[in-house]
Amino acid sequence: MKTDCIILAAGQGTRMKSSRPKVLHNIAGKALAAWVVDAAKEVTGTPPVLVVGNDAQKVKEAFGDSVRYAVQAEQLGTGHAVVSAEEYLTGDGYVIVVAGDMPLIRAETLKKIAAKAAAEKLGACLLSAVVSDPFGYGRIVRSGGGVACIVEHKDATDEELEICEVNASVYCFSVPLLKEALKKLKNDNAQGEYYLTDCVAYIAGCGHRIEAVLCEDPAECIGVNDRVQLAAAAKQLRQRINSALMREGVAIIDPDNTYIDAGVKIGMDTVVYPGVVLEGDTSIGDNSVLYPGSRIKDSRIGSGTAVQNSVILESTVGDSTTIGPYAYLRPNSVVGSGCRVGDFVEVKNALIKDGAKVSHLSYIGDGEIGERSNIGCGVVFVNYDGQKKSRTVVGKNVFVGCNANLIAPVTIDDGAYIAAGSTVTHDVERDALCIARSRQKNIEGWAKRRRGE
Ligand code: UD1
Ligand code: CA
Repeated sequence: MKTDCIILAAGQGTRMKSSRPKVLHNIAGKALAAWVVDAAKEVTGTPPVLVVGNDAQKVKEAFGDSVRYAVQAEQLGTGHAVVSAEEYLTGDGYVIVVAGDMPLIRAETLKKIAAKAAAEKLGACLLSAVVSDPFGYGRIVRSGGGVACIVEHKDATDEELEICEVNASVYCFSVPLLKEALKKLKNDNAQGEYYLTDCVAYIAGCGHRIEAVLCEDPAECIGVNDRVQLAAAAKQLRQRINSALMREGVAIIDPDNTYIDAGVKIGMDTVVYPGVVLEGDTSIGDNSVLYPGSRIKDSRIGSGTAVQNSVILESTVGDSTTIGPYAYLRPNSVVGSGCRVGDFVEVKNALIKDGAKVSHLSYIGDGEIGERSNIGCGVVFVNYDGQKKSRTVVGKNVFVGCNANLIAPVTIDDGAYIAAGSTVTHDVERDALCIARSRQKNIEGWAKRRRGE
């Protein structure tokens, strides 16, 4: 019998104080609820059902067809949220129900709950945790070994508040019993909500056994309700990501201060210094060094390459190249192998071929630089005339002297030499020298006469 999974994600998340739906907040490179969605998928092998609310449209845009949707138009509680997904409650097997705001939950934990429920033919199996500060959580009330009920913090008696075993909001219910229990839900409680947790008391009351499995790692049970919890959960996820990379041979010098998104790939013996931020769909080869303070997003970096204090966005860098310090590679830049892109160089929508060097203070926008060409200090690809962008093409083995302006559209053919300070407006033929600046004139004694001497 196949087990389905319902993820509750319709809550407003008011405690986040944000215009964005809670479940879409980015955490270690994924939307908050995407962590739960991925764990669920690993267990059930099918897209889970996501219960969405007010911001359904935004959530649907973010998740596309990676999930199935149920809409809870009004947020009347977690029990009501499951009622909204009733069309998916079919068959006489089990269903996993999990809150969408617990990004640390592991697939193995969901599996364990589901396996136990089925093997022991339980009414339900749920995940609990013993925490030092149970404030805000539902408390697990046990009797005769099993679970009798869950009492929400706001409804708990002083005695119940002493209980440190809390409800994690991860359940595996028998589908027929859950459906029956949902029909009986009332909202006569402190929050005036239909609590999913009340299904537990109903099912237990009908004489079915309910077990709570204590979570080995209580961190998995962190529910993110505000930004403090978001940061705490993010820290844990980063630890997981960094540990996995280190086990694969990546040298992360200070894992507590290295920010790597889920899904980033890094090769063996690459060294990552503190303060590095690797985002989105990024991969780094072997034996590269990412020095402090670099941000690399949606980019490919090769092997044996060094990046220092630079920003690289939607770009590609080859092998044995050095980038920075303080280089800025904007989208659609491709830098080859054996290249140098030095300090304060900005590159945008440009191709820098193997062995080319742009060492200092240049702007390379909308163009290309051929193999082994050298671009001197302060060269500008003048790509914009105020109305349209044009391309500059520099061939191979070209020498562009310092402070030259290449006014696009313009082509400098292979082997040409551009004198420093030139403003180049016309194409330059192969192997030619271009000097495009006014001739120097020295006027003897001029300065002395000006001083009236
Ligand atoms: C819930 C549990 C509590 C548990 C805690 C663990 C209930 C009544 N309480 O409390 O026992 O200790 O989680 O973190 O279930 N949601 C909807 N629709 C709604 C309300 C909520 O989809 O109408 C979703 C939220 O988006 C969220 C999840 O359900 O992802 C949990 O809701 P939340 O309000 O955070 O419940 P807690 O107060 O944390
Ligand atoms: Ca919560």
